[in-house]
Amino acid sequence: MNSPLSPAPLDRPESPDPLAGSTRDFLTRPEPDLAAKAVAFSRWHDARIGFGGFPYAKRLTGAPTPRAALRLLDGSLQEGLNFSSQDYLGLASHPAVKAAACAAVGCYGVHSAGSSALAGEMDLAGPVAAGLGELLRMPHVTLFPTGWAAGYGVVRGLVRETDHVVIDLLAHNCLMEGALAATRKVVPFLHLDVAHARQKLAGIREREPQAGILLVTESLFSMDADTPRIAAFQDLADEFGARLLVDVAHDLGCLGETGGGQLERQGCLGRVDLVIGSFSKTFASNGGFVGCRDRAVHDYLRYFAPPNTFSNALGPVQLAVVAETLRIVRAEEGGVRRTALLRAVHALRGGLVAHGVKVLGAAAPIVPTYIGSAAAGRRAVKLCGERGVLVNLVEFPAVARNASRFRLQVMATHTPEECEMAARVVAGALEEAQAAEAPGEPSAA
Ligand SMILES: Cc1ncc(COP(=O)(O)O)c(C=O)c1O
Repeated sequence: MNSPLSPAPLDRPESPDPLAGSTRDFLTRPEPDLAAKAVAFSRWHDARIGFGGFPYAKRLTGAPTPRAALRLLDGSLQEGLNFSSQDYLGLASHPAVKAAACAAVGCYGVHSAGSSALAGEMDLAGPVAAGLGELLRMPHVTLFPTGWAAGYGVVRGLVRETDHVVIDLLAHNCLMEGALAATRKVVPFLHLDVAHARQKLAGIREREPQAGILLVTESLFSMDADTPRIAAFQDLADEFGARLLVDVAHDLGCLGETGGGQLERQGCLGRVDLVIGSFSKTFASNGGFVGCRDRAVHDYLRYFAPPNTFSNALGPVQLAVVAETLRIVRAEEGGVRRTALLRAVHALRGGLVAHGVKVLGAAAPIVPTYIGSAAAGRRAVKLCGERGVLVNLVEFPAVARNASRFRLQVMATHTPEECEMAARVVAGALEEAQAAEAPGEPSAA
């Protein structure tokens, strides 16, 4: 006889509908075996893989260049125009960046061998932090093993259970997880809404004049390609004695005249209290950072931000890559690449709109393309892959229910012609997928 904890058999005859359901259905299950929800998920996951074109956990077979090939979980290969990688300035394959990585291996070996709170940080970290500080116009920069770790670490490092985190409803997972781990006093405000944030801050200050408050937003939201009024948020923080944290992961380096991102475009460089960012979008490496104006906060985070203290420091290849990509971002070549990026972005957005596709947000390396239902998204992403355009599908719960979208990521190395070609294919796939939704159609293809 099976014990109550034996795994449920995976080969039940009934197969879930691959066009229905979401990961949220498998988050909790009132069963004594923790693995039961994983077994149920696995059955649904298999059904989705069986449908074909499964858009998650794909593997690149080479560098993340504008043309690439992805290995899917069913073993099949999708090849073509790649709008699913986040190498915004196309620096991951830059000869000088690759040379810098090789030189670092020769000099330092391949491993950092310790946390930055002990002896893991290499002296290459000094110029990287200083260069970032100059780009951000912030005197102090702390490096983290990943951008996620930086976001989680700065919130968890600064906030205690008596403090409040007032946070944009759509803020990135790392910020939300950091907040939820630090305090039960997590107060979301409506996306980008300064008035709503003000209402939340005023309420907290009235009830708890002594509480610490962290106000959190992003400079470019990756599911919507939209941007808050950053100065207005800093003014709010100042007015209510809060600290403002802005996540610049998606725009630092690739937008703004000198690569300062939305902070630069809005005249806010050096004006916000705290900045977190990632190297994984524009700087061709794993890694993240926190910039701040106070040396005391910088010193504190080294020992009180858990991913800094209890996780290994960035390795020599990562640091050398960031040092070189940062040099390029700040040099004339950076400006040339940013111009090429925007040209490609406009070609893609213009092409999509011309074909009747709803494009969200403003011009940025992320081009969110609205779809709607989960089923239409799943059909459309499969068609795109089959027709040689590689895109990422975002669906509930990463976005609202029935607000599925493609998140196309553009690189400076995409040509306008490639963008126009991709727009045609995406529009055709969406039209077909949406036509399949017509009443009376079966739910599975
Ligand atoms: C807004 C934002 N912040 C932080 C991160 C985390 O960055 P990383 O990939 O370096 O962990 C991401 C990446 O997904 C992001 O989109």
